[in-house]
Amino acid sequence: MSSLEFNKIAGAVLATGLLVLGLKNFGSELFKTEAPEKPGYAIEVAQAATTAGAAEVKAEPLPVLLAKADVSKGMAGAKACAACHDFTKGGVNKVGPALWNVVGRKMGSADGFTYSDGFKAMGDKPWEFDALNAWLKAPKEFIAGTKMAFGGIRNDQDRANVIAYLDSLSDAPQALPKP
Ligand code: HEC
Repeated sequence: MSSLEFNKIAGAVLATGLLVLGLKNFGSELFKTEAPEKPGYAIEVAQAATTAGAAEVKAEPLPVLLAKADVSKGMAGAKACAACHDFTKGGVNKVGPALWNVVGRKMGSADGFTYSDGFKAMGDKPWEFDALNAWLKAPKEFIAGTKMAFGGIRNDQDRANVIAYLDSLSDAPQALPKP
């Protein structure tokens, strides 16, 4: 190989190397990303914004939530109650009163069940949809001193699903409120 040829090849190799280097730098200029000081911070903000948006959407009136309620999802959700409640027709009282036909029934009126004093103070009010909604959201806030040891169902739609399921537990379910 003559020295001229060698120089040509060396030159070509060098040029290619420079080109690659140049492209690399150019690329990194193009796609420059700044690493956040705390990784994940930006995402946290995005999530908070999403949750806030979801909370706004969630503030739907009960009739709307009931209109789109899914009874089978409510039935699944009511598994959380089954340790204490019987849902079947002619069902017995367990830790809690039997819940067949509970929608529209007077509060604290299951035969043979001994309710807490808080329940007795509710008088003859019936279990309407609004009352059930408030009760299942936060039992202890709705009836002070209740002995139902259950924290409540937080999600509005999940709760509406359970209420729709409770309403289905009857030979003559109550008509859902019109949205
Ligand atoms: C740990 C046991 C327990 C769980 C879990 C529980 N409950 Fe209860 N529930 C009770 C008790 C006890 C009472 C009676 C409360 C009282 O006398 O203060 C009651 C009362 C009720 C009443 C009032 C019935 C009436 O006759 O007036 C309804 C409705 C009810 N529960 C629905 C539910 C639903 C729906 C769930 C599940 C989402 C649930 N409960 C979960 C124990 C429970």
